[in-house]
Amino acid sequence: MNKRPPLIAGNWKMNGLRTGGRNLARSLAGWLVETRPAVEMLICPPATLLAEIAASTVGGPLRIGAQDCHEQTSGAHTGSLSAAMLADAGAGVVILGHSERRRLGEDSALVAAKAAAALAAGLRPLICVGETLVERETGIAAQTVTAQLRDSLPPGIAATDLTIAYEPVWAIGTGRHADGATIAEMHALIRRELADLLADGASCRVLYGGSVTPANADAILTLPGVDGVLVGGASLDTESFKAIAMAGGA
Ligand code: 13P
Repeated sequence: MNKRPPLIAGNWKMNGLRTGGRNLARSLAGWLVETRPAVEMLICPPATLLAEIAASTVGGPLRIGAQDCHEQTSGAHTGSLSAAMLADAGAGVVILGHSERRRLGEDSALVAAKAAAALAAGLRPLICVGETLVERETGIAAQTVTAQLRDSLPPGIAATDLTIAYEPVWAIGTGRHADGATIAEMHALIRRELADLLADGASCRVLYGGSVTPANADAILTLPGVDGVLVGGASLDTESFKAIAMAGGA
């Protein structure tokens, strides 16, 4: 099923000042060129570091992404960043619909509008879906994720421009990753939905995110339907993130 190499993506969230961020990106970029693991790698630093990191890694294999964008192209939106600004800073991808933003009130319709804005600016959306613990415990995990997926995709998006991350909210930052059976089942569900929603849905990468570490990366990356991982905490440590990439490229 995996036609392309796994994608090992790092979401730095609200972490990283210039010196540390620059060093982390430089170390990863150099290691990627030297080691050539059989994976693609993406880092999503905070927006303040995008331009500098993108400039220092331009032409190399390390891909650079942003963590959110506004749905409008410009205007009176104090504190927000448009997709074109992020593309201009050097991002090629943008994470959208992360649960840490959905929790602030962002619904799937807004995620779809942001994804449309991203595409118009030449950014590829990486859209996150995932159920809360209450939704899982009340038996509506599949229903929740299906609805998020259906409502978060902008009209006409091509599967090749899209990446989905299944990130169960209860697994994020908790040290408690979803078990293999749950991940495989949810990825199969997402794949069925994508095949239904998009002309070439099978070619869309589906990542898993939530407490991925070097200790569990190999087991997760070899599950059926898993095309990579979206890593939070462990992506901030160079050695851990490299170890996860090695698990994917083994
Ligand atoms: P952790 O890897 O820290 O659990 O975070 C996952 C995540 O939210 C990635 O977007």
